[in-house]
Amino acid sequence: MLPGTARQGKCRSLGLGTASEYLGLLDQRSLAMTAEIEDVKMTIQEKFDLTNRVAIVTGGVGLLGAEFCRTLAEAGAAVAVVDLNADAAKKIADDLTRDGYRALGIATDITQPDSVSTMVASVLSTFGRLDVLVNSAALDPKFDPDAAAKGIAPGAFEDYPLDQWNAALDVNLTGTFLVTQACVEPMLAQGKKGSIINICSTYGLNGPDQRIYIKDGKRVAFKPVYYTVTKAGVMGFTKYLAAYYAGTEIRVNALTPGGVFNNHEEYFVTNYSAKTILGRMAKKDEMNGALLFLASDASSYMTGNNVVVDGGWTAW
Ligand SMILES: NC(=O)c1ccc[n+]([C@@H]2O[C@H](COP(=O)([O-])OP(=O)(O)OC[C@H]3O[C@@H](n4cnc5c(N)ncnc54)[C@H](O)[C@@H]3O)[C@@H](O)[C@H]2O)c1
Repeated sequence: MLPGTARQGKCRSLGLGTASEYLGLLDQRSLAMTAEIEDVKMTIQEKFDLTNRVAIVTGGVGLLGAEFCRTLAEAGAAVAVVDLNADAAKKIADDLTRDGYRALGIATDITQPDSVSTMVASVLSTFGRLDVLVNSAALDPKFDPDAAAKGIAPGAFEDYPLDQWNAALDVNLTGTFLVTQACVEPMLAQGKKGSIINICSTYGLNGPDQRIYIKDGKRVAFKPVYYTVTKAGVMGFTKYLAAYYAGTEIRVNALTPGGVFNNHEEYFVTNYSAKTILGRMAKKDEMNGALLFLASDASSYMTGNNVVVDGGWTAW
């Protein structure tokens, strides 16, 4: 955490007042607080509309991340496609711009505070505000059938490498923390409104059934320990932050996808599908409805909670 003076300087440099002003604001709450209920009538289309809003999607180049960027853009938001992969982030933003949407690709390493604050400053100077943050970037091991032949650790707990554990904590937890910390300041300053969506996983709710990585009677891989630990941590972060911002309209929720088909081997698809009620893996666009729900006023009475889109994987 930045020391108080540095932190206040950072807030001021963004033209946002001081951190102590924000905290003072929070401290004026009483336990008996009652928010005013404004009776504004909106159509259902208006509730899902993001016109004039600005969104950041970290990991915006990923299988789901790119879907989230397009979904928010189609709903009317200007979208910052934020990713370690600079070329791909630019390409996704260029494709969106070519299709008539407002988008900006920004190369960012979410584990680096300077990279994160430069990214947020760039979003504010380009689009002028910030309403939605989707924390989607994560290390999420893609299944590699040749892992053993390549000498890549297959994920067994007993000899799981410390450097891979640390790298995952760095991206999945610290990166999420850093980006969120940088984004709440403009949200508070522009009217204490915002929607933060943390992308979790069914493996953050339940332990992975490692039997699905057995092919023809032979173990091929394990889902590594860091994935469940960090995704459970992201869920805790979601609840902490939602509670912390009580009395504001900064809402913090989780979206929990189940397994998304990405050209997996047939044995894996069969094993995974058998564990879902719907009998199949998700298509990559099947999280978009839930994402838009959480990003928009359609979910205006929801905070500190979780939307699970897993084909029933966690229901039996
Ligand atoms: N795909 C699935 O089946 C699935 C299932 C459940 C949950 N999830 C979760 O959904 C989210 C999105 O999944 P996805 O399939 O798009 O993942 P993905 O692996 O395709 O993409 C992750 C993205 O994060 C980026 N990234 C990694 N480290 C970074 C860093 N330090 N700074 C900035 N960017 C960085 C990568 O470059 C990549 O583009 C993830 O949080 C993932 O854990 C995915």
